[in-house]
Amino acid sequence: MDYRAAYEKSITSPEEFWGDQASLVDWIRKPRQVLDSSRAPHHRWFPDATLNTCYNALDRHVVNGAADRVALIHDSPVTGTKRRITYAELLADVAAFAGALQQLGVEKGDRVVIYMPMIPEAVVAMLACARLGAVHSVVFGGFAAHELAVRIDDATPKVVVSASCGIEPSRTIAYKPLLDRALELATHAPEAVIVKQRPEVTADLQDGRDLDWEVAMRAGRTQPAGCVEVAATDPLYVLYTSGTTGRPKGIVRDNGGHAVAMAWSFRHVYDCGPGDVWWAASDVGWVVGHSYIVYAPLISGATTILYEGKPVGTPDAGAFWRVVEEYEVKALFTAPTAIRAIKKEDSAGEFLSRHDLSSLQTLFLAGERLDPDTWQWAGERLGVPVVDNWWQTETGWPIAANLRGLEPMEIKPGSPSVPVPGYDVRVLDGAGQEVPPGTEGAICLRLPLPPGTLTTVWGDEERFISSYLSAFDGHYLSGDGGYVDDDGYLFVMGRTDDVINVAGHRLSTGSMEEVISRHPAVAECAVIGVADTLKGQLPRGFVVLKTGVEADPDEIREELVAMVRGEIGAVAAFKEVVVVGGLPKTRSGKILRRTMREIADGKDTPVPSTIEDPSVLDTLRPALRQE
Ligand code: COA
Ligand code: AMP
Repeated sequence: MDYRAAYEKSITSPEEFWGDQASLVDWIRKPRQVLDSSRAPHHRWFPDATLNTCYNALDRHVVNGAADRVALIHDSPVTGTKRRITYAELLADVAAFAGALQQLGVEKGDRVVIYMPMIPEAVVAMLACARLGAVHSVVFGGFAAHELAVRIDDATPKVVVSASCGIEPSRTIAYKPLLDRALELATHAPEAVIVKQRPEVTADLQDGRDLDWEVAMRAGRTQPAGCVEVAATDPLYVLYTSGTTGRPKGIVRDNGGHAVAMAWSFRHVYDCGPGDVWWAASDVGWVVGHSYIVYAPLISGATTILYEGKPVGTPDAGAFWRVVEEYEVKALFTAPTAIRAIKKEDSAGEFLSRHDLSSLQTLFLAGERLDPDTWQWAGERLGVPVVDNWWQTETGWPIAANLRGLEPMEIKPGSPSVPVPGYDVRVLDGAGQEVPPGTEGAICLRLPLPPGTLTTVWGDEERFISSYLSAFDGHYLSGDGGYVDDDGYLFVMGRTDDVINVAGHRLSTGSMEEVISRHPAVAECAVIGVADTLKGQLPRGFVVLKTGVEADPDEIREELVAMVRGEIGAVAAFKEVVVVGGLPKTRSGKILRRTMREIADGKDTPVPSTIEDPSVLDTLRPALRQE
């Protein structure tokens, strides 16, 4: 089937289309019904089917003769170690760890928070949860104690799994003190904490609550766990993502639709399958890591690389190309920022030319806008298609892409190409009417969303509706603006809300504002994302001090930077704060963040008619433009 036929079928006959794709997955009870829309806007895929996701990711490959195939390669330049793990070995570890969790009382539906660096144990913990039908919630290691505490309180895990440390090129980060602090801040207390002790740091374990990973594994090996049957609609994981407020949203993913979407997209979007060596250079704490480090490649029987390092500095800008050569990687998926970082240090491609990259067929880039310069540089240097794909934590897999395994198409720089089968993309104006090609609007998806997309917000059905489904009847609101051209190619121009994207990491300016406004000298503040040539965007804070405050603005700036780093994490990259006399507001008191953002980005923005006092904006202009 070509792209056009597949796309049409997926939109006009979604049940037939996804019913056919269901055969990519091994079910315990096969689906007889494909889609249940009886409770729209809630749609449920494969409502009467049962399966186990871990069985699909591991057991079935072992059963089908691929026991000795390498499932996972851990390549860790930051520790100088490399390890290949076969499907049989990974299965044994996962069954043992699932046994250990079971002994701690973890059952189907219980939550387990995983706060770990890029080590195989993180993948083992995720799959062990899937094996038991428990719901994992992985928290990115770059988040600090407060963010971790918020997620612990929301997910209320029975067990937390962590490691003694993460390793950044510049420093080793002890995770256990951060976790202990988070558990002090949280109101919810897990029954147990399992800690993988790494050679670089030994964590203190608290009697009665904390357990060494190896001790847990020894116990688990005596009684490894089998696969628990779950409904296709049961939750597999909750992954928190930044919304416009300080409170992150727990995106809920189901089991059945997700497994089908992972297998389908791996083959049709990324053109990879059993035995292929695939590398998603992201982190298990993000959705790219969930979908394309762990689930899609393993469900598909491929070899996945878990890389604990950076594109530059571990040890140099040739690191990615060394990995591609060493493992004969067929396709690499990373964020444009990573390529920009490499290009900055190796624009002439000297590091790159030292490696045999003949195995590489495609470079996939996503997570933020792919600027045409980066696209062109990578394409020229690598001599392979550089394929942009647009999606979000909420969708779990690409909404728009050039479908390399279905029908590769012409690539237009600046566009992630065309809507992926299953996604009925519509660009709407403020009144909910579709705009003509070439006109910008809110990018929306007509319901039902395809399998594998979010089913709700954890514990907050109302927020699911109000954040995504209530803006335009019958549509999901992506939060991104953009347009479709005459050929049906989508151009994504950026968020229309206060979510920013820093080095491919999604962050909320609202959560930074919450931290800043807790400083006793701050009367009010606004944080906006401003364009940055390396990281895509960087947060910049504007603060107004309380009248009568006589502290040194430099000291306040330093304190605010430290507060955001301490509460949200280093990953926020919050380093710029400007103390100003006032913030531009509407007459109803709303801070004009979008206008501020546009001026900071050098756009010629009209002053909104709703502004209360235009002179405030005039005074702020030089600070926004950094003049
Ligand atoms: N644990 C603890 N700290 C972390 C961390 C983790 N897992 N990940 C990042 N940090 C810290 C970094 O050490 C850094 O701290 P610093 O301010 O003390 O230097 C800070 O958070 C910002 O990190 P990062 O965004 O990685 O910036 P960087 O300047 O260290 O590196 C790049 C820049 C471009 C090399 C890096 O951002 C990168 O590799 N980006 C690709 C991102 C990606 O793959 N995103 C996934 C979406 S597909
Ligand atoms: P996350 O949920 O962390 O994956 O971030 C999703 C957001 O990142 C999207 O809503 C977009 O704003 C942005 N994004 C991701 N991929 C792309 C892309 N290919 N082009 C433009 N923006 C992207």
